[in-house]
Amino acid sequence: MTERTFSIIKPDATRRNLTGKVNAVIEDAGLRIVAQRRIQMTDAQAKKFYEVHAERPFYGELVDFMTSAPVVVQVLEGDNAVAKYREVMGATNPAQAADGTIRKLYAESVGENSVHGSDSLENAKLEIAQFFTDADIVG
Ligand code: CMP
Repeated sequence: MTERTFSIIKPDATRRNLTGKVNAVIEDAGLRIVAQRRIQMTDAQAKKFYEVHAERPFYGELVDFMTSAPVVVQVLEGDNAVAKYREVMGATNPAQAADGTIRKLYAESVGENSVHGSDSLENAKLEIAQFFTDADIVG
């Protein structure tokens, strides 16, 4: 089934000028980038986006990191896009990520792990709506 998922290319990757290389992995996997914008995430946006992690010990560090440099927010479309993108990203901790995945190739640590992808179709819809309107997405 054709789905849409939400992706963020994180500050560690934009700082190292890896946007194009990350996008190449995404496109080579058959996912289409149907919306994309480079933004400086605000403190309020990052706090809201990671609200589910508010009680975790790394929440403050995570919000600081996500606002430390520009990010690229994206909508990816394709067959089974949510699960497929999670496969393409690899494990959260790059030390455990499979060969060829974005995190294995580029991530620096569990915190600075280059990309985010939605963990369910329901969350994908909520996350896309935080950053894009329907008119921004051209499938
Ligand atoms: P992400 O998929 O964006 O969702 C939550 C993020 O929290 C996760 O990727 C990691 O970047 C971050 N995270 C998870 N565990 C840790 C940790 N132990 N220390 C710092 N950041 C973490």
